[in-house]
Amino acid sequence: MNDNNLHSNNKRDARVLDLYEKVLEIEQRLIPTGLHIFGLKNTSTEITELLTMVVAFQRPELDLPALTDLIAEGLDLPSYSELLKKSNNSEQHLIGREKVESLARKAVGRIVEGNVHSQVALWINQQAGVSIDLALKIFSFLDKIQQQLKSNEEIDSFLRALRGEYVPPGPGGDVLQNPSILPTGRNTHAINPYAIPSSLAVRNAEPLVSALLDRYHSDLKKIPESIAMVLWGIDNIKQEGQAVAQVLWLLGVKPIRDGLNRVADISVIPLEDLGRPRIDVVMTVSGIFRDLFGSTMDLLDRSVKRVAALDEPHHMNFVCKHVEEKIKKTGCSFEEAATRVFSNAAGNYGTNVNFMVLQSQWEDARELGDLFVRRKSFAYGRDSNGITMEGRQAEDLLDDALSRVEVTYQSIDSTEVGISDVDHYFEYLGGVTKAVEKRAGKQPKIYLSDSLTPNSKIRTLQETLQLESRTKVLNPKWYEGQLRHGFSGVAEIEHQLTNTFGWSATANAVDDWIYDEVVETFVLDGEMLNRLKSLNPSSVHTLVGRLLEASGRGFWSTKPEILNKLKEVFSSLEDALEGVSS
Ligand code: BEZ
Ligand code: MG
Repeated sequence: MNDNNLHSNNKRDARVLDLYEKVLEIEQRLIPTGLHIFGLKNTSTEITELLTMVVAFQRPELDLPALTDLIAEGLDLPSYSELLKKSNNSEQHLIGREKVESLARKAVGRIVEGNVHSQVALWINQQAGVSIDLALKIFSFLDKIQQQLKSNEEIDSFLRALRGEYVPPGPGGDVLQNPSILPTGRNTHAINPYAIPSSLAVRNAEPLVSALLDRYHSDLKKIPESIAMVLWGIDNIKQEGQAVAQVLWLLGVKPIRDGLNRVADISVIPLEDLGRPRIDVVMTVSGIFRDLFGSTMDLLDRSVKRVAALDEPHHMNFVCKHVEEKIKKTGCSFEEAATRVFSNAAGNYGTNVNFMVLQSQWEDARELGDLFVRRKSFAYGRDSNGITMEGRQAEDLLDDALSRVEVTYQSIDSTEVGISDVDHYFEYLGGVTKAVEKRAGKQPKIYLSDSLTPNSKIRTLQETLQLESRTKVLNPKWYEGQLRHGFSGVAEIEHQLTNTFGWSATANAVDDWIYDEVVETFVLDGEMLNRLKSLNPSSVHTLVGRLLEASGRGFWSTKPEILNKLKEVFSSLEDALEGVSS
């Protein structure tokens, strides 16, 4: 074989491996397969799938290793996280990964089927050299979760609450990351906001920040000077402030705790330990976050100002660089130049960008970014006299901070709600992206992190949308799950498409094939179209109208015959909804 052939064969193999890894990613993604029915227990299949993900996470708080780590170690393979990281470009790693996952899945399946723990422990010991004691410890943890998933007290608890009786409290959150949220049907409480971010969140945030900076570096061969990050309240409750911890890592500071585990202050990580420049972070914060995390808002503001005041070279401290440049240019105060925490005016919530998109009330997409800034340009933190600003209007400061942004970013916090399930992701991340585009003169790189698997991943918005579409709206397992709910199932399908459209409006990030395949699946398939129409004609009307709008606004290019078909379906639905018989 000559060198050329060898080279092209290697290239082909690398592509196949990469493709295979993408298929695995889609296959393994946990997705909601229907709406939750109040009071209904989980099925064994759902439990096995969930527990297989549960055993892939270490739980240091319970002194429990991940089963996948133990199997990889027992088989003398590289660590499971190493296997995950490299499985898209090394066949050896991919084979190792599949072996580990298959053994973990089989062990979990045997526990869910009710096999005796000691027998399953002996089996996994023989197969992969996992210590019997550790396996037993993991299985008893799984068993407890399994029992809790199989019982369901939701209706009883609800009735108790209606009778004014006591309902036991329990934490809220994501079951994968915090199984102690089970059993459901308890009186959900949140967290102690003063303990935010937790030590676990700080530990988990570090690899995400490294992955984000690595990804940007691999895409653009440089390090970003300024990142705009979206912070939400409920996510930070579920993940104990992991997004807050990411901001602190980007700035290069660490929380200091007092004797009651409250975050009392921050300490600066020396540059030699940080090993990279400090990144400037502009925070656009939801109204819910602002209401829940007053002391955290203060901590974030203090952290930026502490970093801005350090005597460090500009190429290693971008906060300092930008603050000094701004003061030099405008003569403003240090506090103004270092304002980075923004939210709505006190008592206000949301960006309204979603409403503008849903109601098609915009002509120039720049209006969406301007609306975002109008709603979110209220500064929080302390002014030069140490007095709290409590939402002082500061549109010029937000405009200026966004004009330097190179990356917009948000973390996804659970498998249950993704970026096309609700309109809030595009109103926030899409809104801030559109605002940066006008103020910085070009679209920033847009990333989302995904810590739903042990291999913290950063994807571009476009990649995330591709994965979401393949696993949800274009996946029969997802849409048939929704359609079991009849009317509201069709509405869910329409919401997926509309929220996807929101990403066209704010970021132009939707590939044509996504719209093409939505049309093929729900409109061109006559049987499916009739099914949808009989269940919920109004949502089908909205869906088809949105597709026509995507084409009309130039977000999707398709063939004239497809457009004619859509117009025909649209007008016949309109007639039917208005009671005009055809
Ligand atoms: C929040 O948790 O902060 C949030 C929830 C829904 C929409 C927007 C923000
Ligand atoms: Mg396009």
